[in-house]
Amino acid sequence: MDRKDLLGIKDLSKEEILEVLDTAKEMKKILNGEKYSQILKGKTVVTIFFEPSTRTRLSFEMAAKYLGAHYGNIEVATSSVAKGESLIDTIRTVEMMKADVIIPRHNMSGAPHLMAKYTDASIINAGDGINEHPTQALLDMMTIREKKESFEGLKVAIIGDIMHSRVARSNIWGLKKMGAEVRVAGPSTLMPPQIEKMGVKTYYNVEEAIKDADVVMGLRIQLERQKSGLFPSIDEYREYFGINKERMKLAKADAILMHPGPINRNIEVTSEAANAEYSAIEEQVTNGVAVRMALLKILCERRN
Ligand code: CP
Repeated sequence: MDRKDLLGIKDLSKEEILEVLDTAKEMKKILNGEKYSQILKGKTVVTIFFEPSTRTRLSFEMAAKYLGAHYGNIEVATSSVAKGESLIDTIRTVEMMKADVIIPRHNMSGAPHLMAKYTDASIINAGDGINEHPTQALLDMMTIREKKESFEGLKVAIIGDIMHSRVARSNIWGLKKMGAEVRVAGPSTLMPPQIEKMGVKTYYNVEEAIKDADVVMGLRIQLERQKSGLFPSIDEYREYFGINKERMKLAKADAILMHPGPINRNIEVTSEAANAEYSAIEEQVTNGVAVRMALLKILCERRN
Protein backbone atom coordinates (compact mmCIF):
# COMPACT_ATOMS: atom_id res chain seq x y z
CA MET A 1 0.00 0.00 0.00
CA ASP A 2 1.66 3.18 -1.18
CA ARG A 3 -0.56 5.93 0.24
CA LYS A 4 -0.06 8.87 2.58
CA ASP A 5 -3.57 8.53 4.05
CA LEU A 6 -6.29 5.96 4.71
CA LEU A 7 -9.50 7.85 3.98
CA GLY A 8 -11.91 5.15 2.84
CA ILE A 9 -12.37 1.59 1.63
CA LYS A 10 -13.89 2.83 -1.63
CA ASP A 11 -10.39 3.85 -2.83
CA LEU A 12 -8.58 0.65 -1.79
CA SER A 13 -7.80 -2.26 -4.10
CA LYS A 14 -8.37 -5.89 -3.12
CA GLU A 15 -4.58 -6.28 -2.85
CA GLU A 16 -4.30 -3.33 -0.46
CA ILE A 17 -7.07 -4.74 1.73
CA LEU A 18 -5.29 -8.12 1.81
CA GLU A 19 -2.02 -6.41 2.76
CA VAL A 20 -3.72 -4.76 5.75
CA LEU A 21 -5.39 -8.03 6.79
CA ASP A 22 -2.13 -10.01 6.48
CA THR A 23 -0.24 -7.37 8.47
CA ALA A 24 -2.99 -7.32 11.11
CA LYS A 25 -2.58 -11.09 11.50
CA GLU A 26 1.10 -10.50 12.32
CA MET A 27 0.24 -7.62 14.66
CA LYS A 28 -2.19 -9.85 16.55
CA LYS A 29 0.77 -11.99 17.63
CA ILE A 30 2.29 -8.91 19.33
CA LEU A 31 -1.12 -8.04 20.81
CA ASN A 32 -1.59 -11.54 22.22
CA GLY A 33 2.03 -11.69 23.37
CA GLU A 34 4.34 -9.00 24.76
CA LYS A 35 2.13 -6.03 23.76
CA TYR A 36 5.32 -4.16 23.00
CA SER A 37 7.53 -3.57 20.01
CA GLN A 38 9.63 -0.72 18.64
CA ILE A 39 8.09 -0.75 15.15
CA LEU A 40 6.88 2.85 15.61
CA LYS A 41 9.86 4.09 17.63
CA GLY A 42 10.25 7.84 17.08
CA LYS A 43 6.79 8.25 15.52
CA THR A 44 4.00 10.40 16.95
CA VAL A 45 0.31 9.54 16.69
CA VAL A 46 -2.47 12.01 17.59
CA THR A 47 -6.22 11.36 17.80
CA ILE A 48 -8.85 14.10 17.51
CA PHE A 49 -12.45 12.99 17.88
CA PHE A 50 -15.29 15.44 17.26
CA GLU A 51 -17.81 12.67 18.04
CA PRO A 52 -17.96 10.23 20.97
CA SER A 53 -16.06 6.93 20.82
CA THR A 54 -14.93 4.13 23.10
CA ARG A 55 -13.52 1.43 20.80
CA THR A 56 -11.99 3.36 17.94
CA ARG A 57 -10.19 6.06 19.93
CA LEU A 58 -8.88 3.77 22.64
CA SER A 59 -7.81 1.06 20.20
CA PHE A 60 -5.76 3.61 18.23
CA GLU A 61 -4.13 4.70 21.49
CA MET A 62 -3.39 1.08 22.44
CA ALA A 63 -2.14 0.29 18.92
CA ALA A 64 0.26 3.25 18.95
CA LYS A 65 1.57 2.42 22.44
CA TYR A 66 1.94 -1.33 21.78
CA LEU A 67 4.15 -0.42 18.80
CA GLY A 68 6.31 2.05 20.74
CA ALA A 69 5.00 5.38 19.36
CA HIS A 70 4.47 8.67 21.18
CA TYR A 71 0.74 9.29 21.58
CA GLY A 72 -1.40 12.38 22.15
CA ASN A 73 -5.16 13.04 22.16
CA ILE A 74 -7.01 16.30 21.63
CA GLU A 75 -10.10 16.59 23.80
CA VAL A 76 -12.23 18.68 21.46
CA ALA A 77 -14.49 20.15 24.19
CA THR A 78 -11.50 21.58 26.10
CA SER A 79 -9.36 22.43 23.06
CA SER A 80 -9.12 25.64 21.06
CA VAL A 81 -11.74 24.19 18.70
CA ALA A 82 -14.18 25.32 21.42
CA LYS A 83 -12.79 28.87 20.93
CA GLY A 84 -13.55 28.73 17.22
CA GLU A 85 -10.23 27.50 15.77
CA SER A 86 -10.77 26.10 12.28
CA LEU A 87 -10.26 22.48 11.25
CA ILE A 88 -7.36 23.46 9.01
CA ASP A 89 -5.62 25.58 11.66
CA THR A 90 -6.10 22.74 14.15
CA ILE A 91 -4.52 20.17 11.86
CA ARG A 92 -1.62 22.51 10.94
CA THR A 93 -1.00 23.13 14.66
CA VAL A 94 -0.83 19.38 15.36
CA GLU A 95 1.52 18.82 12.41
CA MET A 96 3.87 21.57 13.63
CA MET A 97 4.29 19.55 16.85
CA LYS A 98 5.77 16.83 14.60
CA ALA A 99 2.83 14.44 14.46
CA ASP A 100 3.35 11.70 11.88
CA VAL A 101 -0.19 10.31 11.93
CA ILE A 102 -3.36 12.23 12.80
CA ILE A 103 -6.58 10.30 13.33
CA PRO A 104 -9.81 12.35 13.15
CA ARG A 105 -13.43 11.38 13.67
CA HIS A 106 -15.84 14.05 12.49
CA ASN A 107 -19.59 14.46 12.03
CA MET A 108 -19.07 15.99 8.57
CA SER A 109 -18.61 13.60 5.65
CA GLY A 110 -15.35 14.50 3.91
CA ALA A 111 -13.69 16.26 6.88
CA PRO A 112 -10.67 13.85 6.92
CA HIS A 113 -10.25 14.33 3.15
CA LEU A 114 -10.05 18.11 3.68
CA MET A 115 -7.57 17.68 6.52
CA ALA A 116 -5.38 15.40 4.38
CA LYS A 117 -4.99 18.18 1.80
CA TYR A 118 -3.59 20.60 4.37
CA THR A 119 -1.03 18.42 6.15
CA ASP A 120 1.96 16.26 5.35
CA ALA A 121 1.04 14.02 8.28
CA SER A 122 -0.80 10.81 7.40
CA ILE A 123 -4.55 10.97 8.08
CA ILE A 124 -6.51 7.88 9.09
CA ASN A 125 -10.27 8.39 8.90
CA ALA A 126 -11.83 7.17 12.15
CA GLY A 127 -15.35 7.82 10.84
CA ASP A 128 -16.73 10.80 8.86
CA GLY A 129 -20.44 11.55 9.04
CA ILE A 130 -22.45 8.96 7.13
CA ASN A 131 -19.66 8.44 4.59
CA GLU A 132 -17.07 5.85 5.72
CA HIS A 133 -15.56 4.10 8.75
CA PRO A 134 -12.73 2.28 6.98
CA THR A 135 -10.93 0.86 10.02
CA GLN A 136 -14.20 -0.67 11.24
CA ALA A 137 -14.71 -2.43 7.89
CA LEU A 138 -11.11 -3.70 7.95
CA LEU A 139 -11.52 -5.15 11.45
CA ASP A 140 -14.84 -6.66 10.36
CA MET A 141 -13.17 -8.25 7.33
CA MET A 142 -10.35 -9.54 9.55
CA THR A 143 -12.94 -11.17 11.85
CA ILE A 144 -14.84 -12.70 8.92
CA ARG A 145 -11.59 -14.00 7.40
CA GLU A 146 -10.58 -15.64 10.71
CA LYS A 147 -13.93 -17.46 10.86
CA LYS A 148 -14.57 -18.20 7.19
CA GLU A 149 -11.09 -18.09 5.58
CA SER A 150 -12.35 -16.88 2.19
CA PHE A 151 -14.78 -14.12 1.23
CA GLU A 152 -15.62 -15.58 -2.17
CA GLY A 153 -19.37 -16.27 -2.40
CA LEU A 154 -20.04 -15.56 1.31
CA LYS A 155 -23.52 -14.22 2.01
CA VAL A 156 -23.34 -11.25 4.37
CA ALA A 157 -26.60 -9.73 5.65
CA ILE A 158 -26.27 -6.18 7.04
CA ILE A 159 -29.36 -5.27 9.07
CA GLY A 160 -30.64 -1.94 10.36
CA ASP A 161 -30.10 1.76 9.80
CA ILE A 162 -28.33 1.53 6.44
CA MET A 163 -29.09 5.16 5.57
CA HIS A 164 -26.99 6.70 8.35
CA SER A 165 -24.35 3.97 8.67
CA ARG A 166 -20.76 4.69 7.61
CA VAL A 167 -20.00 1.15 8.85
CA ALA A 168 -22.43 -0.28 6.29
CA ARG A 169 -20.97 1.79 3.45
CA SER A 170 -17.35 0.83 4.20
CA ASN A 171 -18.29 -2.83 4.62
CA ILE A 172 -20.24 -2.85 1.35
CA TRP A 173 -17.26 -1.37 -0.54
CA GLY A 174 -14.86 -3.81 1.08
CA LEU A 175 -16.87 -7.02 1.04
CA LYS A 176 -17.93 -6.57 -2.58
CA LYS A 177 -14.28 -6.07 -3.62
CA MET A 178 -13.39 -9.29 -1.77
CA GLY A 179 -16.05 -11.31 -3.63
CA ALA A 180 -18.84 -11.57 -1.04
CA GLU A 181 -22.57 -11.25 -1.73
CA VAL A 182 -23.92 -8.39 0.39
CA ARG A 183 -27.57 -8.08 1.41
CA VAL A 184 -28.94 -5.04 3.21
CA ALA A 185 -32.18 -5.01 5.19
CA GLY A 186 -34.01 -2.39 7.19
CA PRO A 187 -37.09 -0.18 7.30
CA SER A 188 -37.67 1.52 3.94
CA THR A 189 -37.24 4.91 5.63
CA LEU A 190 -33.70 3.90 6.70
CA MET A 191 -32.65 2.58 3.27
CA PRO A 192 -30.69 5.02 1.06
CA PRO A 193 -32.21 5.59 -2.38
CA GLN A 194 -30.39 3.70 -5.15
CA ILE A 195 -28.37 1.62 -2.67
CA GLU A 196 -28.56 -1.22 -5.25
CA LYS A 197 -26.04 0.75 -7.33
CA MET A 198 -23.43 -0.31 -4.75
CA GLY A 199 -24.04 -3.90 -5.90
CA VAL A 200 -26.12 -5.08 -2.92
CA LYS A 201 -29.46 -6.88 -2.70
CA THR A 202 -32.12 -4.95 -0.77
CA TYR A 203 -34.60 -6.59 1.63
CA TYR A 204 -37.39 -5.11 3.69
CA ASN A 205 -38.05 -8.41 5.45
CA VAL A 206 -35.36 -9.38 7.93
CA GLU A 207 -36.08 -13.12 7.77
CA GLU A 208 -35.54 -13.19 4.00
CA ALA A 209 -32.26 -11.29 4.38
CA ILE A 210 -30.92 -13.62 7.08
CA LYS A 211 -31.97 -16.85 5.33
CA ASP A 212 -28.85 -18.94 4.52
CA ALA A 213 -26.49 -16.07 5.42
CA ASP A 214 -22.92 -16.86 6.51
CA VAL A 215 -22.58 -13.57 8.38
CA VAL A 216 -25.31 -11.50 10.05
CA MET A 217 -24.21 -7.97 10.90
CA GLY A 218 -26.42 -5.73 13.03
CA LEU A 219 -26.00 -1.95 13.01
CA ARG A 220 -26.59 0.69 15.63
CA ILE A 221 -29.66 2.88 15.10
CA GLN A 222 -28.01 6.27 14.61
CA LEU A 223 -30.60 8.39 16.40
CA GLU A 224 -28.18 11.35 16.51
CA ARG A 225 -28.20 11.50 12.69
CA GLN A 226 -31.92 10.88 12.16
CA LYS A 227 -34.70 13.32 11.62
CA SER A 228 -37.68 12.31 13.76
CA GLY A 229 -40.31 9.95 12.46
CA LEU A 230 -38.15 7.54 10.43
CA PHE A 231 -39.71 4.55 12.19
CA PRO A 232 -42.85 4.43 14.33
CA SER A 233 -41.30 3.25 17.60
CA ILE A 234 -38.40 1.35 19.13
CA ASP A 235 -40.81 -1.51 19.92
CA GLU A 236 -41.81 -1.85 16.27
CA TYR A 237 -38.18 -1.69 15.14
CA ARG A 238 -37.34 -4.51 17.57
CA GLU A 239 -40.31 -6.59 16.38
CA TYR A 240 -39.65 -6.24 12.65
CA PHE A 241 -35.85 -5.85 12.43
CA GLY A 242 -34.31 -6.92 15.75
CA ILE A 243 -31.85 -9.82 15.52
CA ASN A 244 -32.70 -12.61 17.95
CA LYS A 245 -31.97 -16.31 18.42
CA GLU A 246 -35.04 -17.38 16.44
CA ARG A 247 -34.02 -15.25 13.45
CA MET A 248 -30.39 -16.46 13.68
CA LYS A 249 -31.70 -20.04 13.19
CA LEU A 250 -32.59 -19.03 9.61
CA ALA A 251 -28.92 -18.35 8.82
CA LYS A 252 -26.46 -21.14 7.98
CA ALA A 253 -25.70 -23.51 10.86
CA ASP A 254 -22.16 -22.08 11.16
CA ALA A 255 -23.16 -18.44 10.66
CA ILE A 256 -21.61 -15.73 12.83
CA LEU A 257 -23.21 -12.63 14.34
CA MET A 258 -21.41 -9.29 14.26
CA HIS A 259 -22.11 -5.75 15.42
CA PRO A 260 -19.71 -2.77 15.35
CA GLY A 261 -20.84 -1.59 18.78
CA PRO A 262 -22.00 0.13 20.80
CA ILE A 263 -25.10 -2.10 20.84
CA ASN A 264 -28.52 -0.93 21.88
CA ARG A 265 -29.19 -4.27 23.55
CA ASN A 266 -32.60 -5.87 23.06
CA ILE A 267 -33.38 -3.40 20.26
CA GLU A 268 -30.94 -4.11 17.40
CA VAL A 269 -29.76 -7.43 18.86
CA THR A 270 -31.09 -9.34 21.87
CA SER A 271 -28.60 -9.94 24.68
CA GLU A 272 -29.23 -13.65 24.23
CA ALA A 273 -28.03 -13.51 20.61
CA ALA A 274 -25.18 -11.07 21.34
CA ASN A 275 -23.86 -13.45 24.03
CA ALA A 276 -24.42 -16.67 22.04
CA GLU A 277 -21.57 -18.94 20.94
CA TYR A 278 -21.90 -17.72 17.34
CA SER A 279 -21.38 -14.07 18.33
CA ALA A 280 -18.06 -12.58 17.17
CA ILE A 281 -18.79 -9.16 18.67
CA GLU A 282 -16.06 -9.24 21.34
CA GLU A 283 -13.49 -10.66 18.88
CA GLN A 284 -14.24 -7.67 16.63
CA VAL A 285 -13.01 -5.39 19.43
CA THR A 286 -9.69 -7.23 19.77
CA ASN A 287 -9.22 -7.31 16.00
CA GLY A 288 -9.79 -3.54 15.99
CA VAL A 289 -6.52 -3.09 17.84
CA ALA A 290 -4.66 -5.46 15.48
CA VAL A 291 -5.98 -3.71 12.36
CA ARG A 292 -5.08 -0.27 13.71
CA MET A 293 -1.58 -1.50 14.61
CA ALA A 294 -1.27 -2.75 11.01
CA LEU A 295 -2.36 0.56 9.50
CA LEU A 296 0.01 2.57 11.68
CA LYS A 297 2.86 0.23 10.71
CA ILE A 298 2.11 0.36 6.98
CA LEU A 299 1.64 4.15 6.81
CA CYS A 300 4.69 4.88 8.98
CA GLU A 301 6.93 2.52 6.97
CA ARG A 302 5.95 4.45 3.85
CA ARG A 303 6.83 7.71 5.62
CA ASN A 304 10.31 6.33 6.36
N1 CP B 1 -17.62 0.86 16.32
C1 CP B 1 -17.23 2.08 16.74
O1 CP B 1 -16.83 2.94 15.97
O2 CP B 1 -17.30 2.22 18.09
P1 CP B 1 -16.94 3.55 18.89
O3 CP B 1 -17.93 4.60 18.51
O4 CP B 1 -17.01 3.15 20.36
O5 CP B 1 -15.54 3.96 18.48
